[in-house]
Amino acid sequence: MKTKVLMVCLGNICRSPLAEGIFQSLLIKNKLEHSIEVDSAGTSSFHIGKTPDLRSITIAKDNGIILNHRARQILDEDFVLFDHILVMDKSNLINASEICSQKIYETKIQLITKFDTRLNSPLEVIDPYWGSSKDFEQIFDQLHHCCDGWIKKYLEAHSNK
Ligand code: 4NP
Repeated sequence: MKTKVLMVCLGNICRSPLAEGIFQSLLIKNKLEHSIEVDSAGTSSFHIGKTPDLRSITIAKDNGIILNHRARQILDEDFVLFDHILVMDKSNLINASEICSQKIYETKIQLITKFDTRLNSPLEVIDPYWGSSKDFEQIFDQLHHCCDGWIKKYLEAHSNK
């Protein structure tokens, strides 16, 4: 059985599809793609069916990552299906918890920034929708640290030492 990770933001067009693409590239780099799978979703229905924001597509592409995702809204059943639900900010945390009807699964929801191991790293991945392409570059870097930290922690927990 694969470990399933779901990246969650508000619209599922900027942050979470980028997080999904970065995470998938790191799974391949670490030869974990047969053990772990990743998807993304939004807490809102604003952009269902849309491709990611062009600024996310561009920063991903500049780093050798192709984003194929189409936006979808997180469903109550996702909290059963996925093992780890990684949200970008505190409002995502609140909104996701509200959608999760079976409270035992709420423990699966965590801020992705918990896994950024840099000193004084930001507590949230700030919504870049109204920002500039520079903001998307910063978010790419931040998400890369978060995803890398998550995978390192997973590898530590699953090493046969
Ligand atoms: P995301 O960014 O949550 O990172 O996908 C947003 C995308 C769209 C909107 C807000 C945030 N919006 O208000 O439409």
